[in-house]
Amino acid sequence: MNKRPIGIFDSGVGGLTVLSEIKKKLPNENLIYLGDTKNFPYGNKSKEEIIDFAIQNTQKLIELEAKIIVIACGTATSLALDVLKSKFNIQIIGIIEPTVEYVNKQNINRIGVIATEGTIKSGAWEKELLKQNDKIEIISKACPMLATIAEEGRATSEEGRKVIKEYMEPFKKNKIDKIILGCTHYPIYEKLIREELGYPVELINTGVTVSEKLEKYLKNNNLLNAKKDNEDLIFLSKPEDDFKKIAKNLLNFDIKIRQIS
Ligand code: DGL
Repeated sequence: MNKRPIGIFDSGVGGLTVLSEIKKKLPNENLIYLGDTKNFPYGNKSKEEIIDFAIQNTQKLIELEAKIIVIACGTATSLALDVLKSKFNIQIIGIIEPTVEYVNKQNINRIGVIATEGTIKSGAWEKELLKQNDKIEIISKACPMLATIAEEGRATSEEGRKVIKEYMEPFKKNKIDKIILGCTHYPIYEKLIREELGYPVELINTGVTVSEKLEKYLKNNNLLNAKKDNEDLIFLSKPEDDFKKIAKNLLNFDIKIRQIS
């Protein structure tokens, strides 16, 4: 069991920001990543569609012998985590709970959340944050263009800068100094966000909080792999040239990419 890979999925390149944090924290683990590029973007799809995609992705990762599933996607965590947990007999970690646990360790009374339209509409972040601290003030904003621009490899383009300016407006106005990057594509914009805000801000990367939770779980359940013995692999549901380029830029290690149906 220990040697089996950690299965990670997202709609596209975004979840690689989570994969890269997992790799840093757990270098002995074998990783398999499923990018559901065929169904990208998830952010504007219905709950039923997201549940469908999430079930298919989880099934595929289980077929590939994953020992645990990481939903490296805010939208799928918001809309499908409960269904996946009730349907599959495998440990599944989403990005919301570990991040809210991290937030609650600090004494915060105001926080920003940016995410896809589907995630913001679901109210999943607010629900979890308020469950732990009913006094916290939450300023959230849907950023519908960000995942697509990043997926096309244009995050640092003029358009990227323009939309960041627009989306950061409510945070800048209120000088919000802690913002949850509630979509896994958003760490790609970290530099632009900092430049636009122009004051010190903590941008909470869910990849970091998820990999901490994952390490704890594997340790407590004696599931850590002692020595890396297999190559990491990325599977895509549709071949994408942009994906390869972005993966190369985002990850500072080589990883093979394959296509699956
Ligand atoms: N990276 C995903 C998320 O965290 C999906 C973005 C999208 O496909 O729209 O929400």
